[in-house]
Amino acid sequence: MLKQTLLYTGKAKSVYETDHPDHLILVFRDDASAFNGEKVAQLDRKGKVNNLFNAFIMEKLAEAGIETHFEKLLNPSEVLVKRLDMIPVECVIRNYAAGSLCRRLGIEEGKQLTPPTFELFYKDDGLGDPMVNESQSIALGWATAEQLEQMKKLTYQVNDVLTALFDQGDMLLVDFKLEFGVFHGRIVLGDEFSPDGCRLWDKNTKKKLDKDRFRQGLGDVVEAYEEVAQRLGISLDSI
Ligand code: TMP
Repeated sequence: MLKQTLLYTGKAKSVYETDHPDHLILVFRDDASAFNGEKVAQLDRKGKVNNLFNAFIMEKLAEAGIETHFEKLLNPSEVLVKRLDMIPVECVIRNYAAGSLCRRLGIEEGKQLTPPTFELFYKDDGLGDPMVNESQSIALGWATAEQLEQMKKLTYQVNDVLTALFDQGDMLLVDFKLEFGVFHGRIVLGDEFSPDGCRLWDKNTKKKLDKDRFRQGLGDVVEAYEEVAQRLGISLDSI
């Protein structure tokens, strides 16, 4: 598969067309950003760690019957994926309160949410990815009711699979964000799953092992991502 025109440069990944219309190549970079691009940094090895991490998670989800865009790892920084028509609405599940939920509702961080909450955010950097609801998403033509229903169902399925997986490594999956797209009429999981787009805490100490280490200036960001990988048995020997 040949890497061709640069299609899009995101905050942490670049997307290239290939010589096949149904496939794209994602390049995971070392760029880190938070607060809608206000805080940026280069974190050595982050791109490769996240690419290998994402490949492992996508394979686990596929084994559980969840269709993803992942095709195959090309090298430590690059992955071949299906070319999806992305839906500009992000799906977030929270098992414990953190981040914007605490800020918005004044809730103490760490409160267990039973059942887990489901939220939608409109993917728009200029607006800072505002929270939206289902009827707005439908009325504004971002997704159909059927697509939103499927996205919600799939996000809860991902939550079940990954909560159990992280539990095996003594970690709590606090919350996470997923992005979906359409591939030949089917809703398929796209983007990435890595510690950049979720919150993971050590089950016992509640040590943060995700991007909050970067947001909050806690240090050892990539070291924490590597610790998560190691706890899941993901080999980082190739990088
Ligand atoms: P939040 O607490 O900032 O709303 O984020 C909830 C979870 O979703 C957290 O793990 C970060 C992730 N997330 C992203 O990675 N990107 C986004 O644009 C949004 C809205 C959330």
